[in-house]
Amino acid sequence: MELIFDRIKKDLKHLLSEKRYQHTLGVEKSAIMLSEKYGENINKARISALLHDIAKQLSHDEIKEK
Ligand SMILES: [Fe+2]
Repeated sequence: MELIFDRIKKDLKHLLSEKRYQHTLGVEKSAIMLSEKYGENINKARISALLHDIAKQLSHDEIKEK
């Protein structure tokens, strides 16, 4: 599973600005803490956190295209 997270982070590093990438890693950390605290699925929380801003830097045209 860790390989999947590494791959997602590698792709995010290319897609997002450095600031947005660092923000995303912070959200992932919070998601891990909260899922542990409330007994939720950590992997689902991590994936949701990592992908939550995936389209933030795309233009409207790029979003429509995808
Ligand atoms: Fe965000």
